Amino acid sequence: MAFPELFIQELKQNNPIDSVMSSYVSLIRRGRSCVCLCPFHSEKSPSCTLYLENNSFYCFGCGAGGDVITFVMKIENLGYVEAIKFLAERAGMAMPEDAKNNESSRLKSRILEINRTAARFFFDTLTRSTDGEKGRRYFAERQLSAATITKYGLGYAPNGWYSLSNYLRSKGFSDEEMISAFLCGRGKNGGVFDLFRDRVMFPIIDLRGNVVAFGGRTIDGDGPKYINSSDTPVFQKGRNLFSLNFAKKSEEKRLILAEGYMDVIAINQAGFENVVATLGTALTQEQARIMSQYADEIIIAYDSDGAGQNATHKAINLLSEVGLRTKIIHMEGAKDPDEYIKKFGALRFKQLLDKSGSAIEFELEKCRAGLDTETDDGKIEYLKRCVNVLADITSPIEREVYAGRLAEANRVNKEMIIQQVNGTIKKRINKSKSKEWTEIRTFQKQMRSNPDSYRKPKEYKAEIGIISYLAANPDEADYISSKIAPEQFATDLNKKIYAVMLEKIKNSEFSDILSLQSEFTADEMGKITEIEVNSKDVNINKTAVDDFINILVSSADNSADIKDMSNDEFLKYFQNLKSKK
Ligand code: UTP
Ligand code: MN
Repeated sequence: MAFPELFIQELKQNNPIDSVMSSYVSLIRRGRSCVCLCPFHSEKSPSCTLYLENNSFYCFGCGAGGDVITFVMKIENLGYVEAIKFLAERAGMAMPEDAKNNESSRLKSRILEINRTAARFFFDTLTRSTDGEKGRRYFAERQLSAATITKYGLGYAPNGWYSLSNYLRSKGFSDEEMISAFLCGRGKNGGVFDLFRDRVMFPIIDLRGNVVAFGGRTIDGDGPKYINSSDTPVFQKGRNLFSLNFAKKSEEKRLILAEGYMDVIAINQAGFENVVATLGTALTQEQARIMSQYADEIIIAYDSDGAGQNATHKAINLLSEVGLRTKIIHMEGAKDPDEYIKKFGALRFKQLLDKSGSAIEFELEKCRAGLDTETDDGKIEYLKRCVNVLADITSPIEREVYAGRLAEANRVNKEMIIQQVNGTIKKRINKSKSKEWTEIRTFQKQMRSNPDSYRKPKEYKAEIGIISYLAANPDEADYISSKIAPEQFATDLNKKIYAVMLEKIKNSEFSDILSLQSEFTADEMGKITEIEVNSKDVNINKTAVDDFINILVSSADNSADIKDMSNDEFLKYFQNLKSKK
């Protein structure tokens, strides 16, 4: 899909890379560049660099890189056209007309349409058909009001194999579309059947108000408790939060994080708009990051059973990593918020929220488990565990406060605790540093085993030299292309880069190497940005380029690739080499 060059330029101008990236990571400014923790791999010290003058980024840790469009493609997991749309929307720009008919964006908009139609169907079935009686009874039992059902667009999927699919077909949707949307499956006989049968339905709505997926709960306990849409072209579990479309409108800078759909709905019905849940999976880093855009503080209201408490522990870590304060509510006498509100009412739940303890206290309390802290041994073990918890706290002031309390409560010296905590922190830093080095070394190994640069290192280097030179001197394109054709390049990606560059220069569409984005995948763009970054400090002159060209020209003839040879061919090749010796 080609967009006018001018439009892309304007789009990039209106979406400076630092401003776009700062919604996902916190940036440390360093003059004309910024660094940050790479959002594409997990690391403890920042190796992702933003180059403000050419609006690009590159991670020295994992090799991700590109322009602002590549960044959005990767982080939002969008295609090229969708990323452009995303940025155009962000900057309030209108899209050029011809871009709208793209195939994949067409499929996406069809899936959104089919989802909306299905959601309507489930809702109508629940609220006004005789089939829906079972669903109505269920929600009545769970004490959901009519207003809540309407607000969340809840529904009921009838107990038949073809109810929805017949309806969708009558509305003009194809079998393929029903399957792509994860509403139907294909049976052995080739026909499609409904995936959600005899279930109450929870539509998942994104921030733009699109129905992107469904969760369906069993009523009688047949089959799995929930069936959730798998990832589709319009939906990724790990990047969406249930009810965020409502929660984002809340004035509060804190969010309640619950475990289940039913908890969220019960909490919301009790008057708290600022509640969300994950979608049938554990909290992800992306979800934590998304929450940090809407809140400073998260109150975790997971179930009080073992699984819920385990999940709480993991969530605290993820949420703190993105800079969110975390608190935890303690529900006595109820297994989850839904039950708590039913038993004790909204007011008591509000009190629970207000006196929700800090996550640290919760963690410290847990250190007592299985110990008799009246004995010396028990107390020592308890304090050791506490020191580990305190070492998790990033703010030194906060550490100090908790160390003080702990010291007082156990009648030990505060300085001693702080000393222990600092020692633990230092040990951990060393450990994580050495871990990071191991990661870098593995990465370097992978780089080296990059088949292209590995099998043909000389050619690879020559190609990169030519590409860098051409990027800096596009006016030399005629000269260079007269001496070497893309086919004479030895490695595939470079061959493609070179060909695309020549084409773009010929059509006066070339401004810099990052303007190649429309022709390459996000991963390929990482490699291209790496070329760009590495060539920044080396000055390749024309003589060097001539040498590079010679390397390629003289190697182009025997560019036989062993991998592609049949056994016979290989034998011949091998004997040939031997006879030359
Ligand atoms: P729960 O079992 O606690 O369900 O799972 P719930 O939503 O609170 O429902 P009730 O109150 O028991 O009726 C919590 C969440 O875990 C996911 C769902 O997102 C659910 O809301 N889950 C659970 C699944 O995806 N599949 C399952 O089989 C069970
Ligand atoms: Mn639950």
